Amino acid sequence: MTEFDALGLLREIEDVGRDPRRGGYSRHVFDDAERELRDWFVERARRLGLKVTTDRNGNLWAWWGEPGPDAFVTGSHLDSVPGGGAHDGPLGVVSALAAVERLQASGFVPTRPFAVVVFAEEEGSRFGLACLGSRLLSGAITPARLESLTDASGRRFVDVAREASLPEPGYDAESLARIGLFVELHVEQGKGLIDLDAPVAVGSSILEHGRWRIDVRGQGNHAGTTEIADRRDPMLPAAEAVLATRRAAALRAGSRATIGRIEPVPGGTNVIASRVSAWMDVRADSEQDTRDIVADVQQAVSEAAAAEGCEASVIEESYSGEVRFDPQLRDRIAATLGNVPVLPTGAGHDAGVLAAHVPTAMLFVRNPSGISHAPEEGADDAAIQAGVDALVRTIEDLA
Ligand code: GLV
Ligand code: MN
Ligand code: MN
Ligand code: MN
Repeated sequence: MTEFDALGLLREIEDVGRDPRRGGYSRHVFDDAERELRDWFVERARRLGLKVTTDRNGNLWAWWGEPGPDAFVTGSHLDSVPGGGAHDGPLGVVSALAAVERLQASGFVPTRPFAVVVFAEEEGSRFGLACLGSRLLSGAITPARLESLTDASGRRFVDVAREASLPEPGYDAESLARIGLFVELHVEQGKGLIDLDAPVAVGSSILEHGRWRIDVRGQGNHAGTTEIADRRDPMLPAAEAVLATRRAAALRAGSRATIGRIEPVPGGTNVIASRVSAWMDVRADSEQDTRDIVADVQQAVSEAAAAEGCEASVIEESYSGEVRFDPQLRDRIAATLGNVPVLPTGAGHDAGVLAAHVPTAMLFVRNPSGISHAPEEGADDAAIQAGVDALVRTIEDLA
């Protein structure tokens, strides 16, 4: 085992950003844990002789040789969801470093520019917008939207970015133009590879997905003195939203819809809330199903709000159409790896954002729990090694 073995690299960061309250890890963009991981990545990449730069959006680029156009780019992200697993993101980063080390040791020299990338705020856990680093890079975010992004404590993304020495986040045509193709290795976030009894797959597509915020306003009041008949409690329409979300998804095969975050304001045990916000994540096979799910929930919430004397609104925060990864690149990688399986996913990735601009592919690595975005997420050692092997062979073929 070498110093840059993927398992060893994962062990080096296994204590960074642990979240004892939630379990698992909470590593949110530009917090202490995520910055520690960034510093660790820079140090590790430099030890491999890579030149590390930070782009205007806080994405890290570690260049093997000179930066240049038509580059082979691989990597992932280091941030996590609240209470997430150890592999979602970091596995793609450590596998890229391990692959570079293996290739260097074998005497391989890329014939085109080559970079390992770490994208910022992939999960959207801090500022609410997933794949923020790659969306900014590729010009998918308007300046007005950028100005509006705040974290849970009300801090604006642009201010946090300025403190991180990123005074001008936004469209980065120069970095985008350098990417010739992008391959993201990622832990599988479902059971596809368990069912197929295979360690590695090539990605085919990402489901349509989006996020909506449901705001319900009522009248804050005293839990002990307010008669039931006198209440305008926004928690009731919010509860109806949760149930309607499940019902709407269950009606449409292949779709998933979730309310995983809900915030009553002010949030006291003996206080009837004055306002509740709930965030709904919807993924489906078609835009029609996605829109129909949102419409069903909107109707159920409006009716429940009217019955309770509340007001409700449903606001779209992000929406991404279905992604189909480049079929030629997908087939070429699958063939190079000996006809490994090809799998779709319901999870979003920076690769999905970049697929609109450059040929993009993904490699999925078996997760024996089938669980992700939770502490039980995992990847078995053999599959991790098979993932690095697959990335090495992909790089040998394409870089
Ligand atoms: C990110 O991992 C997402 O799929 O939401
Ligand atoms: Mn994730
Ligand atoms: Mn991820
Ligand atoms: Mn993701």
